[in-house]
Amino acid sequence: MSSNHRLLVENADQVVVICNHGEKFLTKEGMKNLSVIQNASVVIGRDGLIEAVGPSKAISLQYSGASFDKVIDAKGMCVLPGLVDAHTHPVWAGDRVHEFAMKLAGATYMDVHRAGGGIHFTVEHTRAAAASELLGSLASRLARMLRAGTTLVECKSGYGLELQTEVKMLEVIEKARRSLPINISSTYCGAHAVPKGKTVAEATEDILQVQLPRLKELMSAGTLRVDNIDVFCEQGVFDLDATRSILQAGKELGLNINFHGDELHPMNSAQLGAELGALAISHLEEVTDEGIAAMATAGTAAVLLPTTAYILRLPQPRARAMLDAGVIVALGSDFNPNAFCCSMPIVMHLACVNMRMTMSEALAAATINAAYALGRSDTHGSLEVGKHGDLLVLNNSRWEHLIYQLGGHRELIRHVVIKGNVI
Ligand code: NIG
Ligand code: FE
Repeated sequence: MSSNHRLLVENADQVVVICNHGEKFLTKEGMKNLSVIQNASVVIGRDGLIEAVGPSKAISLQYSGASFDKVIDAKGMCVLPGLVDAHTHPVWAGDRVHEFAMKLAGATYMDVHRAGGGIHFTVEHTRAAAASELLGSLASRLARMLRAGTTLVECKSGYGLELQTEVKMLEVIEKARRSLPINISSTYCGAHAVPKGKTVAEATEDILQVQLPRLKELMSAGTLRVDNIDVFCEQGVFDLDATRSILQAGKELGLNINFHGDELHPMNSAQLGAELGALAISHLEEVTDEGIAAMATAGTAAVLLPTTAYILRLPQPRARAMLDAGVIVALGSDFNPNAFCCSMPIVMHLACVNMRMTMSEALAAATINAAYALGRSDTHGSLEVGKHGDLLVLNNSRWEHLIYQLGGHRELIRHVVIKGNVI
């Protein structure tokens, strides 16, 4: 989607650029020292890309006499890049609110899973749902994310676990990508659980021999765009060898490796991801020091999901150890029937309070680094000239209010802009 008008956002008290030297990601000091311009303006061209960003005086001189189709007076407000949510499971049917009560009463995630709940419950309902129903609920979930400031979101399949439903889910994501304003990165997650009645070897065989070959056909025909491949690498789900063979096969199809690892048990998922050149690994509540070092060396991003640890009362991911080691730390909401959270501002708040990240680190993790985890940081994640004109205008003069305020973000976020269009 491109804009058909030129947009000027002028006189903002602060414009948070994030970084301004074409960095693909930030680590350590870079995450602490974000680029912020006081009293600044942003121009988005008719192609939907950022044309200029800088001090208001300089921009008004540069553009004196120029015409704009739309002008937003941002005096007393601030401007930030649109947020990037690097991990969600937003396509599903069936309500799991009852499991929240079970978990509050002490059941663990795996207790619920083994009792036939969790992913299996959602698989049953998603298999039975019509594509139109799935698209309707996906669209309203994505609209909620957009209102909370997310302008680029990763969306996984993974509640089919067989060809027909996995393709149905990916087609639903594809339709959303083509018809909704929000930017989508699409992920095949056929290895989200071992289907009931199958062994890990049988499930792996089905993915390698049936599901991935069909995806390859649909992708080459241009009917489906898939960006990433995901596996739930966990005890009692996919072991390390099965994970390796599925991720490798996905990589051969040109998909980015971006998978669930070291969540409930230390599995050496981080080392495996580093070995395979994974772009990102999510969760990592149980990652070892060796795993952290391997990810730092390989440039594999850690997508941390503070909602999971919060809801399941798991140990927090060791964000500080990862940041100190120079890992590229990103954030995601993990929106799914277990973690019903559409809001990256709440995710950043949890990351700061529970994982001890600073507000600058959390914002870098939810913008440039999340874009990197999706292979999109050339075009998204910061307010640099030539990148997509995706931004937020906050009804406050200090950007930190986006993280400080716990909820109520519809009041705080005055405008969400995607490719120059005010949504
Ligand atoms: O990221 N860990 C595996 N997958 C999801 C949960 C999916 C579900 O419970 O439906 C997660 O938390
Ligand atoms: Fe997940």
